[in-house]
Amino acid sequence: MTERKKRSIVVLVSGSGSNLQALIDAIDNGVISNAQITQVISNRKAAYGLVRAKKHNIATANLSMKTWLGKNEGKTRQDYDCVLARAVLAGAEGKSSAVLGSDATQCSTRPDLVVLAGFMHIVSPEFLQVLGDTPCINLHPALPGQFDGIEAIKRAHDAFQSSQLEGGKTGVMVHEVVAEVDRGTPVVVREVECKQGESLEALEERIHIVEHQIIVEATKIMLERTQ
Ligand code: GRF
Repeated sequence: MTERKKRSIVVLVSGSGSNLQALIDAIDNGVISNAQITQVISNRKAAYGLVRAKKHNIATANLSMKTWLGKNEGKTRQDYDCVLARAVLAGAEGKSSAVLGSDATQCSTRPDLVVLAGFMHIVSPEFLQVLGDTPCINLHPALPGQFDGIEAIKRAHDAFQSSQLEGGKTGVMVHEVVAEVDRGTPVVVREVECKQGESLEALEERIHIVEHQIIVEATKIMLERTQ
């Protein structure tokens, strides 16, 4: 019986990479089957997520928009996003660095799934256009339409502590990426009850635990769709 080709996942990170680690562990322990993370890309060279990837022999690449714009006078953030997206496509074979080094490189490969795991960069429509039919999901620590954008956990915490959070709960979601920030169709949503007097750090800790669960669940769902 011919072995099914492993589905390729490209993960984009900007920070500690604990959500990337959750995906690495889920693949290692078989929770996510017949898949491999073929590339981790960061827009911050100091991202610990790159260290986690290297520890697991996963190809890494990084390029900050500031650095790229500095080297490409007159180019725009949309131009950067196109290069980043082509690097993502090349990530299906762990070859993102070649693309990031020179944007002349076209690539015919494409991963089965792109996961934005704490990727602190708003991707433009041009990024999605280059990705085409390649599915892309994003982790966002809030409920659909509640706290789009940055510092979602802090904004939910502040709202709750000042009795302005409807229903007294926040949450975490993984959604399909569309041009509008944090507005794509949710794949997995998990509510998190807020607690009176709880510190922001304690809430963040509870939220991160949920993130690590649902990023794996959402990845499984997306891969099953393209089975
Ligand atoms: C997560 O809270 C994510 O929602 C936010 O940044 C954090 C990423 O954490 N954007 P990590 O880099 O996966 O540890």
